[in-house]
Amino acid sequence: GGVMSGKRAPVEDFATDFDHTDPTWVADPYAIWADLRGRCPVAHTDRYGGAWLPVRHAEVAAVAYDTEHFTSRSVVMSEVRPGPHDLPAPIGLAPPITSDPPFHALARRMLLPAFSPKAVAAYEPYSRRLCRELLDAVDGADEVDASVDFARHIPLRVIVRMLGFPEEDADVFRTFITGVLEDVDESAEERQARADEAVMEQYMDARIAEHLAEPRDDLTSFLLEAELDGHKLQTDHVRGTMVLLLIAGIDTTWSAIGSSLWHLATHPEDRRRLAADPALMDTAVEELLRAYAPVTMARLVAKDVELGGRQLKEGDWLLLPFPAANRDPAMFPDADRVVLDRQVNRHAAFGLGIHRCLGSNLARMELRVALEEWLARFPDFELADPDRITWSAGQIRGPRVLPLRILR
Ligand code: HEM
Repeated sequence: GGVMSGKRAPVEDFATDFDHTDPTWVADPYAIWADLRGRCPVAHTDRYGGAWLPVRHAEVAAVAYDTEHFTSRSVVMSEVRPGPHDLPAPIGLAPPITSDPPFHALARRMLLPAFSPKAVAAYEPYSRRLCRELLDAVDGADEVDASVDFARHIPLRVIVRMLGFPEEDADVFRTFITGVLEDVDESAEERQARADEAVMEQYMDARIAEHLAEPRDDLTSFLLEAELDGHKLQTDHVRGTMVLLLIAGIDTTWSAIGSSLWHLATHPEDRRRLAADPALMDTAVEELLRAYAPVTMARLVAKDVELGGRQLKEGDWLLLPFPAANRDPAMFPDADRVVLDRQVNRHAAFGLGIHRCLGSNLARMELRVALEEWLARFPDFELADPDRITWSAGQIRGPRVLPLRILR
Protein backbone atom coordinates (compact mmCIF):
# COMPACT_ATOMS: atom_id res chain seq x y z
CA GLY A 1 0.00 0.00 0.00
CA GLY A 2 0.84 3.64 -0.37
CA VAL A 3 1.73 4.19 3.24
CA MET A 4 4.45 1.63 3.63
CA SER A 5 6.07 2.02 0.22
CA GLY A 6 7.04 4.73 -2.22
CA LYS A 7 9.78 7.33 -2.17
CA ARG A 8 11.06 7.74 1.32
CA ALA A 9 13.83 9.72 2.94
CA PRO A 10 16.42 7.76 4.92
CA VAL A 11 15.48 7.59 8.58
CA GLU A 12 18.42 9.84 9.63
CA ASP A 13 16.69 12.70 7.82
CA PHE A 14 13.70 12.33 10.05
CA ALA A 15 15.43 13.93 13.01
CA THR A 16 12.54 16.28 13.65
CA ASP A 17 11.49 16.44 17.24
CA PHE A 18 8.08 17.69 18.28
CA ASP A 19 6.59 19.23 21.39
CA HIS A 20 2.86 19.57 21.10
CA THR A 21 2.67 21.56 24.36
CA ASP A 22 4.90 24.33 22.95
CA PRO A 23 2.89 27.60 22.92
CA THR A 24 3.82 28.23 19.26
CA TRP A 25 2.34 24.87 18.43
CA VAL A 26 -0.87 25.55 20.31
CA ALA A 27 -1.25 28.96 18.64
CA ASP A 28 -0.83 27.62 15.10
CA PRO A 29 -0.34 23.86 14.70
CA TYR A 30 -1.29 24.06 11.03
CA ALA A 31 1.96 25.71 9.98
CA ILE A 32 3.98 23.14 11.90
CA TRP A 33 2.09 20.21 10.39
CA ALA A 34 2.44 21.67 6.91
CA ASP A 35 6.17 21.99 7.42
CA LEU A 36 6.50 18.43 8.76
CA ARG A 37 4.29 16.94 6.05
CA GLY A 38 6.89 17.60 3.36
CA ARG A 39 10.04 16.53 5.14
CA CYS A 40 9.09 14.34 8.11
CA PRO A 41 5.68 12.70 7.76
CA VAL A 42 6.13 10.69 10.96
CA ALA A 43 7.88 12.86 13.55
CA HIS A 44 9.28 11.66 16.85
CA THR A 45 9.80 13.01 20.35
CA ASP A 46 11.65 11.60 23.34
CA ARG A 47 8.94 12.96 25.62
CA TYR A 48 6.51 10.43 27.09
CA GLY A 49 9.19 7.78 26.86
CA GLY A 50 9.10 8.02 23.07
CA ALA A 51 6.16 9.16 21.00
CA TRP A 52 5.34 9.42 17.29
CA LEU A 53 3.37 11.92 15.28
CA PRO A 54 2.09 11.14 11.77
CA VAL A 55 0.88 14.28 9.96
CA ARG A 56 -0.37 13.03 6.59
CA HIS A 57 -3.86 11.69 5.98
CA ALA A 58 -2.43 8.38 4.71
CA GLU A 59 -0.56 7.47 7.90
CA VAL A 60 -3.25 8.84 10.22
CA ALA A 61 -5.81 6.64 8.44
CA ALA A 62 -3.45 3.63 8.43
CA VAL A 63 -3.11 3.87 12.21
CA ALA A 64 -6.80 4.48 12.86
CA TYR A 65 -7.76 1.39 10.85
CA ASP A 66 -5.03 -0.84 12.30
CA THR A 67 -6.32 -1.97 15.68
CA GLU A 68 -3.91 -4.90 15.71
CA HIS A 69 -0.73 -2.82 16.01
CA PHE A 70 -2.26 0.19 17.77
CA THR A 71 -4.33 -0.21 20.91
CA SER A 72 -6.91 2.25 22.23
CA ARG A 73 -6.40 1.18 25.83
CA SER A 74 -4.96 4.63 26.51
CA VAL A 75 -6.11 7.47 24.32
CA VAL A 76 -4.98 10.48 26.34
CA MET A 77 -1.21 10.87 26.27
CA SER A 78 -0.91 12.01 29.84
CA GLU A 79 1.66 9.84 31.52
CA VAL A 80 4.98 11.57 31.48
CA ARG A 81 7.40 8.86 32.57
CA PRO A 82 10.40 7.20 31.03
CA GLY A 83 9.59 4.46 28.58
CA PRO A 84 9.26 1.97 27.23
CA HIS A 85 5.76 1.82 28.63
CA ASP A 86 4.30 -1.41 29.81
CA LEU A 87 1.06 -1.93 28.00
CA PRO A 88 -1.87 -1.61 30.37
CA ALA A 89 -3.53 -4.94 30.99
CA PRO A 90 -6.31 -5.74 28.52
CA ILE A 91 -9.61 -4.70 29.96
CA GLY A 92 -12.90 -6.40 29.38
CA LEU A 93 -15.69 -4.14 30.45
CA ALA A 94 -14.57 -0.71 29.30
CA PRO A 95 -16.38 1.98 27.33
CA PRO A 96 -15.84 1.73 23.55
CA ILE A 97 -13.31 4.53 23.29
CA THR A 98 -10.73 2.60 25.33
CA SER A 99 -11.70 -0.86 24.03
CA ASP A 100 -10.11 -2.94 21.31
CA PRO A 101 -11.72 -5.64 19.17
CA PRO A 102 -13.48 -7.91 19.75
CA PHE A 103 -15.03 -6.37 22.88
CA HIS A 104 -15.25 -2.91 21.32
CA ALA A 105 -18.12 -3.85 19.00
CA LEU A 106 -20.30 -4.92 21.92
CA ALA A 107 -19.61 -1.82 23.99
CA ARG A 108 -20.34 0.39 21.00
CA ARG A 109 -23.43 -1.41 19.72
CA MET A 110 -25.05 -1.08 23.10
CA LEU A 111 -24.81 2.73 22.93
CA LEU A 112 -25.79 3.28 19.29
CA PRO A 113 -29.57 3.66 19.77
CA ALA A 114 -29.09 6.53 22.21
CA PHE A 115 -27.17 8.54 19.57
CA SER A 116 -29.14 7.77 16.42
CA PRO A 117 -30.26 10.75 14.30
CA LYS A 118 -33.80 10.30 15.64
CA ALA A 119 -32.73 10.17 19.30
CA VAL A 120 -30.58 13.26 18.79
CA ALA A 121 -33.29 15.22 16.94
CA ALA A 122 -35.43 15.00 20.08
CA TYR A 123 -32.92 17.32 21.79
CA GLU A 124 -32.85 19.95 19.05
CA PRO A 125 -35.69 22.11 20.47
CA TYR A 126 -33.97 22.16 23.87
CA SER A 127 -30.62 23.02 22.28
CA ARG A 128 -32.20 25.90 20.39
CA ARG A 129 -33.98 27.22 23.47
CA LEU A 130 -30.74 27.01 25.42
CA CYS A 131 -28.81 28.96 22.74
CA ARG A 132 -31.48 31.66 22.75
CA GLU A 133 -31.39 31.94 26.55
CA LEU A 134 -27.60 32.27 26.48
CA LEU A 135 -27.87 34.96 23.80
CA ASP A 136 -30.67 36.77 25.68
CA ALA A 137 -28.35 37.01 28.68
CA VAL A 138 -25.73 38.94 26.65
CA ASP A 139 -28.01 40.81 24.26
CA GLY A 140 -27.25 44.53 24.22
CA ALA A 141 -23.62 44.07 25.29
CA ASP A 142 -20.97 45.51 22.96
CA GLU A 143 -18.65 42.64 23.71
CA VAL A 144 -19.51 38.96 24.22
CA ASP A 145 -17.17 36.11 25.10
CA ALA A 146 -18.30 33.53 22.56
CA SER A 147 -16.46 30.78 24.42
CA VAL A 148 -17.18 31.52 28.09
CA ASP A 149 -20.69 32.97 27.74
CA PHE A 150 -21.93 30.81 24.88
CA ALA A 151 -20.08 27.82 23.38
CA ARG A 152 -19.03 26.02 26.54
CA HIS A 153 -22.53 25.84 27.99
CA ILE A 154 -24.14 24.15 25.02
CA PRO A 155 -22.70 20.60 25.01
CA LEU A 156 -22.50 20.59 28.80
CA ARG A 157 -26.14 21.47 29.36
CA VAL A 158 -27.36 19.21 26.54
CA ILE A 159 -25.60 16.08 27.85
CA VAL A 160 -26.67 16.85 31.43
CA ARG A 161 -30.21 17.03 30.13
CA MET A 162 -29.84 13.80 28.14
CA LEU A 163 -28.55 12.00 31.22
CA GLY A 164 -31.49 13.38 33.20
CA PHE A 165 -29.36 15.15 35.80
CA PRO A 166 -30.56 18.39 37.42
CA GLU A 167 -29.67 21.36 35.20
CA GLU A 168 -28.13 23.29 38.08
CA ASP A 169 -25.52 20.52 38.45
CA ALA A 170 -23.96 21.30 35.07
CA ASP A 171 -21.08 23.24 36.61
CA VAL A 172 -20.00 20.27 38.72
CA PHE A 173 -19.05 18.51 35.49
CA ARG A 174 -17.44 21.47 33.84
CA THR A 175 -14.98 21.70 36.71
CA PHE A 176 -14.34 17.95 36.70
CA ILE A 177 -13.76 17.72 32.98
CA THR A 178 -11.48 20.72 32.84
CA GLY A 179 -9.54 19.14 35.68
CA VAL A 180 -9.09 15.94 33.68
CA LEU A 181 -8.33 17.41 30.28
CA GLU A 182 -6.87 20.87 30.42
CA ASP A 183 -3.33 21.96 30.99
CA VAL A 184 -4.20 24.85 33.24
CA ASP A 185 -1.87 27.00 35.23
CA GLU A 186 -2.31 25.59 38.71
CA SER A 187 -0.70 23.18 41.10
CA ALA A 188 -1.05 19.41 40.90
CA GLU A 189 -3.14 19.46 44.11
CA GLU A 190 -5.56 22.05 42.73
CA ARG A 191 -5.94 20.01 39.57
CA GLN A 192 -6.41 16.83 41.51
CA ALA A 193 -9.11 18.47 43.63
CA ARG A 194 -10.99 19.59 40.55
CA ALA A 195 -10.74 16.20 38.90
CA ASP A 196 -11.62 14.31 42.08
CA GLU A 197 -12.97 11.02 40.87
CA ALA A 198 -14.35 10.03 44.26
CA VAL A 199 -16.62 13.09 44.27
CA MET A 200 -17.77 12.27 40.75
CA GLU A 201 -18.41 8.66 41.70
CA GLN A 202 -20.57 9.67 44.64
CA TYR A 203 -22.49 12.08 42.48
CA MET A 204 -23.15 9.47 39.78
CA ASP A 205 -24.08 6.82 42.32
CA ALA A 206 -26.73 9.13 43.76
CA ARG A 207 -28.22 9.71 40.28
CA ILE A 208 -28.05 5.97 39.51
CA ALA A 209 -29.92 5.18 42.75
CA GLU A 210 -32.64 7.70 41.89
CA HIS A 211 -33.04 6.24 38.44
CA LEU A 212 -33.14 2.67 39.70
CA ALA A 213 -35.88 3.64 42.14
CA GLU A 214 -37.81 5.49 39.46
CA PRO A 215 -36.84 4.79 35.82
CA ARG A 216 -37.21 7.70 33.38
CA ASP A 217 -37.03 8.36 29.69
CA ASP A 218 -33.40 9.47 29.65
CA LEU A 219 -29.88 8.25 28.97
CA THR A 220 -29.23 7.15 32.56
CA SER A 221 -32.23 4.82 32.57
CA PHE A 222 -31.23 3.69 29.08
CA LEU A 223 -27.81 2.66 30.43
CA LEU A 224 -29.33 0.96 33.46
CA GLU A 225 -31.69 -1.08 31.29
CA ALA A 226 -29.23 -1.83 28.46
CA GLU A 227 -27.79 -5.29 28.06
CA LEU A 228 -24.30 -6.14 27.01
CA ASP A 229 -23.72 -9.69 25.92
CA GLY A 230 -27.00 -10.66 27.58
CA HIS A 231 -26.24 -9.05 30.95
CA LYS A 232 -27.26 -5.80 32.57
CA LEU A 233 -24.30 -3.46 33.10
CA GLN A 234 -22.43 -3.31 36.39
CA THR A 235 -22.68 0.01 38.20
CA ASP A 236 -18.97 0.56 37.47
CA HIS A 237 -19.59 0.29 33.78
CA VAL A 238 -22.62 2.58 33.88
CA ARG A 239 -20.57 5.16 35.74
CA GLY A 240 -17.62 4.72 33.37
CA THR A 241 -19.89 5.23 30.39
CA MET A 242 -21.39 8.38 31.89
CA VAL A 243 -17.92 9.79 32.48
CA LEU A 244 -16.96 8.85 28.91
CA LEU A 245 -19.95 10.67 27.45
CA LEU A 246 -19.24 13.75 29.54
CA ILE A 247 -15.55 13.75 28.67
CA ALA A 248 -15.95 12.88 25.00
CA GLY A 249 -18.81 15.25 24.29
CA ILE A 250 -18.14 18.50 26.07
CA ASP A 251 -14.68 19.94 25.40
CA THR A 252 -14.85 18.66 21.86
CA THR A 253 -18.11 20.35 20.89
CA TRP A 254 -17.29 23.47 22.91
CA SER A 255 -14.06 23.72 20.88
CA ALA A 256 -15.79 23.14 17.54
CA ILE A 257 -18.37 25.88 18.22
CA GLY A 258 -15.69 28.28 19.48
CA SER A 259 -13.31 27.70 16.56
CA SER A 260 -16.17 28.13 14.08
CA LEU A 261 -17.11 31.50 15.61
CA TRP A 262 -13.42 32.46 15.65
CA HIS A 263 -13.29 31.70 11.92
CA LEU A 264 -16.42 33.74 11.21
CA ALA A 265 -15.08 36.65 13.29
CA THR A 266 -11.84 36.70 11.32
CA HIS A 267 -13.32 36.02 7.84
CA PRO A 268 -15.98 38.67 7.15
CA GLU A 269 -16.79 37.32 3.68
CA ASP A 270 -17.60 33.87 5.00
CA ARG A 271 -19.58 35.41 7.87
CA ARG A 272 -21.72 37.53 5.56
CA ARG A 273 -22.23 34.69 3.13
CA LEU A 274 -23.38 32.26 5.81
CA ALA A 275 -25.60 34.79 7.60
CA ALA A 276 -27.27 35.65 4.27
CA ASP A 277 -27.71 32.08 3.05
CA PRO A 278 -28.80 29.55 5.71
CA ALA A 279 -28.96 26.87 2.98
CA LEU A 280 -25.15 26.82 3.16
CA MET A 281 -25.25 25.66 6.77
CA ASP A 282 -24.90 21.90 6.24
CA THR A 283 -21.79 22.07 4.08
CA ALA A 284 -20.42 24.93 6.22
CA VAL A 285 -20.68 22.81 9.37
CA GLU A 286 -18.72 19.99 7.70
CA GLU A 287 -16.12 22.41 6.37
CA LEU A 288 -15.61 24.12 9.73
CA LEU A 289 -15.28 20.68 11.34
CA ARG A 290 -12.68 19.75 8.72
CA ALA A 291 -10.67 22.94 8.96
CA TYR A 292 -10.76 23.27 12.78
CA ALA A 293 -11.11 19.65 13.89
CA PRO A 294 -10.56 19.84 17.63
CA VAL A 295 -9.59 16.27 18.51
CA THR A 296 -6.16 14.61 18.45
CA MET A 297 -6.32 11.11 19.90
CA ALA A 298 -3.48 8.87 21.05
CA ARG A 299 -2.64 5.19 20.69
CA LEU A 300 -0.11 2.86 22.23
CA VAL A 301 1.89 0.67 19.87
CA ALA A 302 0.80 -2.90 20.70
CA LYS A 303 3.28 -4.67 18.40
CA ASP A 304 6.38 -3.43 16.60
CA VAL A 305 5.36 -1.96 13.26
CA GLU A 306 6.66 0.21 10.42
CA LEU A 307 4.93 3.46 9.64
CA GLY A 308 5.99 5.93 6.97
CA GLY A 309 9.50 4.50 6.94
CA ARG A 310 9.96 4.56 10.70
CA GLN A 311 10.23 1.66 13.07
CA LEU A 312 7.72 1.91 15.93
CA LYS A 313 8.29 -0.22 19.02
CA GLU A 314 5.79 -1.90 21.29
CA GLY A 315 4.94 0.47 24.14
CA ASP A 316 5.65 3.69 22.21
CA TRP A 317 3.02 6.40 22.26
CA LEU A 318 1.57 7.77 19.06
CA LEU A 319 -0.42 10.97 18.70
CA LEU A 320 -3.19 10.64 16.15
CA PRO A 321 -3.87 14.17 14.87
CA PHE A 322 -7.10 14.05 12.90
CA PRO A 323 -6.80 17.86 12.48
CA ALA A 324 -3.53 17.36 10.57
CA ALA A 325 -5.08 14.71 8.30
CA ASN A 326 -7.85 17.19 7.51
CA ARG A 327 -5.34 19.76 6.24
CA ASP A 328 -3.46 17.34 3.97
CA PRO A 329 -3.47 18.81 0.44
CA ALA A 330 -3.13 15.28 -0.97
CA MET A 331 -6.66 14.63 0.31
CA PHE A 332 -8.31 18.07 0.20
CA PRO A 333 -7.60 20.55 -2.59
CA ASP A 334 -6.89 23.99 -1.15
CA ALA A 335 -6.75 22.32 2.26
CA ASP A 336 -5.87 25.41 4.29
CA ARG A 337 -8.75 27.42 2.89
CA VAL A 338 -12.28 27.25 4.29
CA VAL A 339 -14.70 26.67 1.40
CA LEU A 340 -18.17 26.90 2.91
CA ASP A 341 -19.78 24.96 0.08
CA ARG A 342 -17.07 22.32 -0.32
CA GLN A 343 -18.87 19.42 -1.96
CA VAL A 344 -16.54 16.44 -1.47
CA ASN A 345 -15.54 16.51 2.16
CA ARG A 346 -14.63 13.15 3.64
CA HIS A 347 -12.98 14.73 6.66
CA ALA A 348 -11.58 12.88 9.67
CA ALA A 349 -12.72 15.28 12.41
CA PHE A 350 -14.77 12.47 13.97
CA GLY A 351 -12.02 9.92 13.50
CA LEU A 352 -11.77 6.96 11.12
CA GLY A 353 -12.47 3.28 11.49
CA ILE A 354 -14.17 1.42 14.31
CA HIS A 355 -13.86 4.23 16.89
CA ARG A 356 -15.45 6.85 14.66
CA CYS A 357 -17.30 9.29 16.91
CA LEU A 358 -20.46 7.86 18.33
CA GLY A 359 -21.76 11.34 19.15
CA SER A 360 -21.28 12.79 15.66
CA ASN A 361 -25.02 13.30 15.05
CA LEU A 362 -25.31 15.12 18.35
CA ALA A 363 -22.19 17.20 17.77
CA ARG A 364 -23.33 18.22 14.30
CA MET A 365 -26.77 19.20 15.57
CA GLU A 366 -25.30 21.30 18.39
CA LEU A 367 -22.82 23.03 16.09
CA ARG A 368 -25.48 23.79 13.49
CA VAL A 369 -28.01 25.10 16.02
CA ALA A 370 -25.34 27.19 17.81
CA LEU A 371 -24.23 28.83 14.54
CA GLU A 372 -27.79 29.39 13.32
CA GLU A 373 -28.88 31.01 16.57
CA TRP A 374 -25.72 33.09 16.97
CA LEU A 375 -25.87 34.40 13.38
CA ALA A 376 -29.60 35.16 13.68
CA ARG A 377 -28.89 37.27 16.77
CA PHE A 378 -25.45 38.68 15.88
CA PRO A 379 -24.89 38.56 12.12
CA ASP A 380 -21.95 40.94 12.32
CA PHE A 381 -19.02 40.73 14.72
CA GLU A 382 -15.23 40.79 14.93
CA LEU A 383 -12.47 39.91 17.39
CA ALA A 384 -12.59 42.40 20.24
CA ASP A 385 -8.91 42.00 21.06
CA PRO A 386 -6.72 39.24 19.60
CA ASP A 387 -4.37 39.48 22.59
CA ARG A 388 -7.03 38.35 25.01
CA ILE A 389 -7.89 35.16 23.13
CA THR A 390 -6.63 31.97 24.73
CA TRP A 391 -6.57 28.46 23.25
CA SER A 392 -6.67 25.17 25.09
CA ALA A 393 -3.47 23.16 25.22
CA GLY A 394 -3.20 19.43 24.79
CA GLN A 395 -5.16 17.01 22.65
CA ILE A 396 -8.31 19.08 22.25
CA ARG A 397 -7.89 22.44 20.56
CA GLY A 398 -10.30 25.33 20.71
CA PRO A 399 -10.63 28.88 22.05
CA ARG A 400 -11.19 29.08 25.79
CA VAL A 401 -11.50 32.88 25.96
CA LEU A 402 -12.90 34.51 22.82
CA PRO A 403 -14.08 38.10 23.28
CA LEU A 404 -16.03 39.29 20.23
CA ARG A 405 -17.15 42.83 19.45
CA ILE A 406 -20.75 42.88 18.31
CA LEU A 407 -21.23 45.22 15.34
CA ARG A 408 -24.57 46.90 14.83
C1 HEM B 1 -15.02 9.05 19.49
C2 HEM B 1 -14.39 13.57 17.83
C3 HEM B 1 -18.45 14.98 20.04
C4 HEM B 1 -18.88 10.59 22.00
C5 HEM B 1 -14.50 10.15 18.83
C6 HEM B 1 -13.32 10.14 18.01
C7 HEM B 1 -13.13 11.42 17.58
C8 HEM B 1 -14.20 12.22 18.10
C9 HEM B 1 -11.99 11.93 16.70
C10 HEM B 1 -12.45 8.94 17.65
C11 HEM B 1 -11.62 8.49 18.79
C12 HEM B 1 -10.53 7.50 18.42
O1 HEM B 1 -10.33 7.16 17.24
O2 HEM B 1 -9.85 7.06 19.34
C13 HEM B 1 -15.44 14.32 18.27
C14 HEM B 1 -15.66 15.72 17.89
C15 HEM B 1 -16.81 16.12 18.52
C16 HEM B 1 -17.30 14.99 19.28
C17 HEM B 1 -14.76 16.51 16.95
C18 HEM B 1 -17.50 17.45 18.48
C19 HEM B 1 -17.40 18.32 17.46
C20 HEM B 1 -18.95 13.92 20.74
C21 HEM B 1 -20.17 13.91 21.49
C22 HEM B 1 -20.27 12.66 22.08
C23 HEM B 1 -19.13 11.89 21.64
C24 HEM B 1 -21.14 15.07 21.62
C25 HEM B 1 -21.34 12.09 22.96
C26 HEM B 1 -21.97 12.71 23.89
C27 HEM B 1 -17.88 9.81 21.48
C28 HEM B 1 -17.69 8.41 21.84
C29 HEM B 1 -16.57 7.96 21.12
C30 HEM B 1 -16.11 9.10 20.32
C31 HEM B 1 -18.55 7.59 22.80
C32 HEM B 1 -15.96 6.57 21.15
C33 HEM B 1 -16.51 5.73 20.03
C34 HEM B 1 -15.83 4.40 19.90
O3 HEM B 1 -14.73 4.20 20.43
O4 HEM B 1 -16.42 3.49 19.26
N1 HEM B 1 -15.03 11.42 18.86
N2 HEM B 1 -16.45 13.93 19.10
N3 HEM B 1 -18.34 12.68 20.85
N4 HEM B 1 -16.92 10.19 20.58
FE1 HEM B 1 -16.74 12.03 19.78
